[in-house]
Amino acid sequence: MNSVGNILEQIRSDAMESLASASDEKSIQDLQTRFLGRKGSLTRFLRNISDLPKDQRPEAGKSANILKNKLENAFQDAIKTIQQKNLAQESGLDITLPGRPIFSGSKHPLTLMNQEICDVFTRLGFEIVEGPEVELDYYNFEALNIPKDHPARDMQDTFYISDNVVLRTHTSPLQIRTMEKCKPPVRIIAPGKVYRCDSDITHTPMFQQIEGLMVDENIHFGHLKGILTTLVHQIFDDHTSLRFRPSFFPFTEPSAEIDMQCVMCRGNGCRVCSQTGWLEILGAGMVHPAVFENVQYDTDKYTGFAFGMGIERIAMLKYGIDDIRKFYDNDIRFLNQF
Ligand code: PHE
Repeated sequence: MNSVGNILEQIRSDAMESLASASDEKSIQDLQTRFLGRKGSLTRFLRNISDLPKDQRPEAGKSANILKNKLENAFQDAIKTIQQKNLAQESGLDITLPGRPIFSGSKHPLTLMNQEICDVFTRLGFEIVEGPEVELDYYNFEALNIPKDHPARDMQDTFYISDNVVLRTHTSPLQIRTMEKCKPPVRIIAPGKVYRCDSDITHTPMFQQIEGLMVDENIHFGHLKGILTTLVHQIFDDHTSLRFRPSFFPFTEPSAEIDMQCVMCRGNGCRVCSQTGWLEILGAGMVHPAVFENVQYDTDKYTGFAFGMGIERIAMLKYGIDDIRKFYDNDIRFLNQF
């Protein structure tokens, strides 16, 4: 190393050693003056560069300026660290502790399932409507052609708030509430929570449904079949077949229960489908004329279909979940997987 290099190295090591033993702001400021101030050793060196032989000047100037920047930064950093330490001491805060991880939330599997189903229907031109969970007997039962002595009204199934107020047992009241307000054509879906007095590995007292209703001139069973097939193909896959079985609901005629091919065994029969190859996923049918009469729709002119499905059931099949209660246990290890 030439003598210029030696001098700069001397200044550098001198400065860094002094800095290492400086423990307060004032002594660092003194160091700043000692090395970088008007009479500081590095400043003097820079000022005297013109005395050096001509060929050494550029290199010396460059190295001295690099060192100057380095020292300025080192002093600034040291001052900042001391200030932070002082602040931390005053406030009793230990800034040297590692940070706490921030957990980001994620959507609940039922929310995801709900959104996915709603997306399919909105793409098909259906509008989303919502209604009250505490519902009048009239909307939950009476207007849907469920007479006073119907077994679905049994005290064991329905949570009664009072004689004519219940927790809705299905989303079908939205059929009536929508038709009371709008003239045909009607094309809606209604997602929401429903309540039944029931609890085991496939039932929770509160669960979620999506209701669908389409009313217009010339609507027939083929439309129902087409819409539901599209739904199942989009949520599962294009090769999943559907099966319509005759059934009974007071508010539809004819009524059907709809099964889809078992997603686990592809229809060969397994434990999930009780060896039948089919899984029941929803109830549906053509709107009963008595329901249309309750909302003053012209039964000669209009026909329609309605359906109702349980979101938990579809989510269990889609995500391979074997116990419905997992959705409501609030176990973060389960929920984090979605
Ligand atoms: N509301 C019925 C249920 O909860 C399902 C359904 C809706 C059936 C619409 C037919 C038409 O079981």
